[in-house]
Amino acid sequence: MSIGRARQGVVYRQGALGRRPAVPTDAAELERAAHRRMSRRAWAYVAGGAGEGATMRHNRAAFERWRIRPRMLHGVTERDLRTEVCGTPLAAPLLLAPVGAGALVRRDSDVLIARGAAAAGVPYVLSNQGCSPMERTAEAMGETPFWYQLYWSTDERLVDSMVGRAEACGARALVVTLDTTMLGWRPQDLNLGSLPFARGQGIAQYTSDPRFMEIVRERAQAPAAKAQVTLGALRTLLSIAREHPGSTWANLRAREPRAAVETFLDIYSNPGLSWEHLATLRGRTRLPILLKGILDPADARRALDAGVDGIIVSNHGGRQVDHAVAALDALVAIRCAVGAGPTLLFDSGIRTGADVFLALALGADACLLGRPHLYGLALAGADGVRQVIENVLAELDLTMALTGVANLAGLTPDVLRPAPEGRIDA
Ligand code: GLV
Repeated sequence: MSIGRARQGVVYRQGALGRRPAVPTDAAELERAAHRRMSRRAWAYVAGGAGEGATMRHNRAAFERWRIRPRMLHGVTERDLRTEVCGTPLAAPLLLAPVGAGALVRRDSDVLIARGAAAAGVPYVLSNQGCSPMERTAEAMGETPFWYQLYWSTDERLVDSMVGRAEACGARALVVTLDTTMLGWRPQDLNLGSLPFARGQGIAQYTSDPRFMEIVRERAQAPAAKAQVTLGALRTLLSIAREHPGSTWANLRAREPRAAVETFLDIYSNPGLSWEHLATLRGRTRLPILLKGILDPADARRALDAGVDGIIVSNHGGRQVDHAVAALDALVAIRCAVGAGPTLLFDSGIRTGADVFLALALGADACLLGRPHLYGLALAGADGVRQVIENVLAELDLTMALTGVANLAGLTPDVLRPAPEGRIDA
């Protein structure tokens, strides 16, 4: 049976027994329920965005400018959602987006998300700002493929170390996030004075990295660092010394949690990242390379000329630049500029299966799902993640069934119409 009807069957059968789904099946109620469950800091970080939230609103409004045109009497009884992107086979055109600091929502977040993704058979792009080492999250993916997100550090040896670890633990592609060379202006977090990384949440890829810990030790040995030990840090150091008798000063300092946090904040991302850096990556990995955060057709052309394997059109869920172009409008403009061949993925604004249908019809090869999977995590852990994914895929499948689209090749602009008042402003 198709995933759409199978999922409806599960929910309605449970309903007949008096049980309602723990994870709401529509985006608005899912968000409300997760909000009730999450701490203020978690909600601010996950649901918040840049500035006044205009980009997040644009992302959603862009979907409203398109209408699906259902066709009748087509006789489509089976849908095939399978595809392949950059050499990774996908059971359906969906991946979980990398979202950092998931431990704000639930302990062991990345492992639970990986289990939920694997249960639904959907790849997960492991977050570079994750809360467990990539090797551990990779294990939780089992046989389901996963990709790795890379933030380009100011330390090139750390870049190589992360890339090497991603290859070694089985990642099938690298997703280089371009749009977060520094954090955007995020009032929800700022108003709480809350930065998860500053509390050590979301830095597990770093603290588990030998090159990163080497940098932490090097910095601890610097004379300035010795002079900077505060009374609070000294107390922490004394207790670490009790637990690790015989340690050198540098090793003690490196074990002090603040040392790793400060190092992370200084080097996790490179504000000077440029096309010259990118040009070196091909020679440093055998994995397919995708660039995430491209919004401009000229950047997309340049990236493809530089030999990348795919582009993820994204404005980081509206978290970086307020009043930015809607990601869906950018997708239309970029597909038009690069033609049918290149691999384009879409991220930023996907909430439902009908959204995925629209984005695929407008030129995406697959979509990334961000905040909703965190909401599923908040409500029901790994199983909540699975349910969110299955709900999205069920609606995609039913939308295809009810419009007469048998497979992804049938998802072209022909199945859409611009809304009567529609306008593309990319
Ligand atoms: C990091 O990727 C963030 O959006 O906070």
